Amino acid sequence: MTQQGEVISATASAASKSVFPIPANVFAETVTQVEHYTDRLFKFRITRPASFRFRSGEFVMIGLPNAERPVFRAYSVASPSWDEEVEFYSIKVPGGPLTEHLQKIKVGDTILMRKKPTGTLVNDALLPGKRLYMFSTGTGIAPFASLMRDPETYEKFDEVILTHTCREVAELKYGEELFELCKTDPLIGEFAAEKLVLYNSVTREDYPRTGRITDLMTSGKLFEDLGVPPINPEDDRGMICGSMAMLNDTKQVLEDFGLVEGSNARPSTFVVERAFVD
Ligand code: A2P
Repeated sequence: MTQQGEVISATASAASKSVFPIPANVFAETVTQVEHYTDRLFKFRITRPASFRFRSGEFVMIGLPNAERPVFRAYSVASPSWDEEVEFYSIKVPGGPLTEHLQKIKVGDTILMRKKPTGTLVNDALLPGKRLYMFSTGTGIAPFASLMRDPETYEKFDEVILTHTCREVAELKYGEELFELCKTDPLIGEFAAEKLVLYNSVTREDYPRTGRITDLMTSGKLFEDLGVPPINPEDDRGMICGSMAMLNDTKQVLEDFGLVEGSNARPSTFVVERAFVD
């Protein structure tokens, strides 16, 4: 928040909309696009400060300049590190201290973004392997939206499998759009077309594939559907992003398959995200 109290000059338009001085550890950026997917989900893009560097899969703290002490929450950057803008994918929490206001943003509004990105869902935290599984539920797809658009992901793995499980069919759209975008992207299209697989499922509506990802793994259906052997520590690497309950349960399943949790300091065979919104 405003711990440092040191004021820097943000862009003129951003600063003029701010009701509090922008501290030196915070960027004030302009919203360039907002797209609502459902009454619970939306994406937005902001201008990217020239000095903002991050690794695909990391998160930053973001807030709004609407109070003297703005509320900041952790958001995974959903765009890849080469993108000229910064993209986020958000849930709308009724009464949520940040998302209640964030869901009303329009193009031209100001978003505050702390300067220091961090996170464990990065390629560097995994040992080399054959197959990368990115397990996501709901807005947990955000860090993978970044990683699936990063050429390094395809340099490191022969196969990249994104699983996305949502309550309802409409909530799958963001991931489906990205998947199609990846396959035609000039930078990664060729690799994505060959290596990237999207494995969707839904839990509270009829759909060709239903069920939680944990159940789809323990029953073996995931591996049958993909035509691959069950997860093993020699070939497979995992990244997990979702609610706390989903993280814990998926982590347990991966451990049962013999994978071991890693970190930036100790790369291993799977990593877990712990950034939450509201
Ligand atoms: P379910 O509908 O059976 O709860 P949420 O919006 O609550 O984060 O849920 C997003 C998706 O994650 C839903 O499909 C939900 O399934 C699933 N999910 C919730 N908890 C878990 C869990 N502990 N393990 C695996 N999947 C989960």
